[in-house]
Amino acid sequence: MDTQLPDDIQLLQRSVRGFVDDVLAPCAKEIEEKDDIPRALITKMGEAGLFGIGHEEALGGQGFGKLGYCVAVEQLARANASLWNVVGGSAGLCGTAISVGGPDDVRHRYLPDLFSGRRVGAYALSEPGAGSDAGSLKTAARRDGDAYVIDGAKTFITNAPIADVFVIFANAAPATGSKGITAFVVERGAKGLEIGPNDEKMGLHGSTTAQLYFSGLRVDVTQRVGNEGDGFKIALRTLDFGRLGLAAHSVGAAQHLLEASVEHAKTRVQFGTPIGANQAIQWMLADAATEIHAARLMVYDAASRADRGERITDRAAMAKLFATEMLGRVADAAVQIHGGMGYMRELWIERAYRDARITRIYEGTSEIQRVVIAGALLADS
Ligand code: CAA
Repeated sequence: MDTQLPDDIQLLQRSVRGFVDDVLAPCAKEIEEKDDIPRALITKMGEAGLFGIGHEEALGGQGFGKLGYCVAVEQLARANASLWNVVGGSAGLCGTAISVGGPDDVRHRYLPDLFSGRRVGAYALSEPGAGSDAGSLKTAARRDGDAYVIDGAKTFITNAPIADVFVIFANAAPATGSKGITAFVVERGAKGLEIGPNDEKMGLHGSTTAQLYFSGLRVDVTQRVGNEGDGFKIALRTLDFGRLGLAAHSVGAAQHLLEASVEHAKTRVQFGTPIGANQAIQWMLADAATEIHAARLMVYDAASRADRGERITDRAAMAKLFATEMLGRVADAAVQIHGGMGYMRELWIERAYRDARITRIYEGTSEIQRVVIAGALLADS
């Protein structure tokens, strides 16, 4: 396997890094304090191409494939996890679901706007009673002539308070279990769609999350994503790519924490020497660097396989499991190395520590990733 990134992706990496350093990073503290990402900043991210990197050019994307996407997401993670979260929820999940499911007229109606950041998307799968067991979702889609009538509720929906477009999963044939799940695109303002208030979270301040309520929501059949009953497979296939992106984010966030920790270890003097002279600190740095390297290789391997057209369900689950658990360890070590300052709001380390915690939960918990990996190992070949 060639671990050298192709020239065009190295160029992309430098260009995203420049945008992150010059435009996004200076806003990170204010986003945290105000718990708000200005829409104008999302528009700028769109103009810089950040929403379309991994998607096809014919649909308004940048055409860099999943490897390019992961490399860019690593850089984006340096700014503020909430900014990545807007991209991941919009183009990463909502856009990918439409891209995977089709049909073409739905793709062309929505993807160019999602991939340019002109519109923000949300992916609505989880329900109060259906988190890890997503296939048991209860939102119902009843066929009525040329439309479906949707009733139910969704929970923890990233971007919901700001989204213009929602992909929602509802069951059109509950008697068949998850085989009745069907995906639809719904636009903000549709009669029968109510968006709850922004949830208060431990971290990811600035990134919005809310419940959705559907009451007699009428959705034309032309807004269906894929065929009736294909919804669960579309949801899971989308999550393969979502988990890959989250793994890439975790690598980038951990790398940023490591660099800050190395710098602190070199400059913080105690007992007359920089604290990096102590083996206790050296081992933390060495373990972090080793684990980041391993996680990055897992991400690039899974992304390259996706770009070659391979199914990456187990590889994405492995990358997500390892990279997010690794980020938890690296964030903990970074707080420890920074000592009292690592616990203070004044420095971004404390925010990164809180932001990291959700990565082991959303887009499938660590436990669910192990279910997916073990399922692939034990499946009949
Ligand atoms: N791609 C395509 N098809 C897939 C697939 C994949 N990755 N994984 C499974 N399938 C297929 C299976 O082959 C099966 O097909 P058949 O019926 O034809 O045999 C069908 O889908 C159902 O699969 P399972 O029987 O394995 O389904 P299950 O009900 O046992 O559930 C699970 C499997 C892995 C536990 C799944 O429910 C899961 O991943 N749960 C976690 C849900 C999750 O990650 N939620 C996060 C929501 S999004 C979010 O968090 C972020 C946000 O803010 C929006």
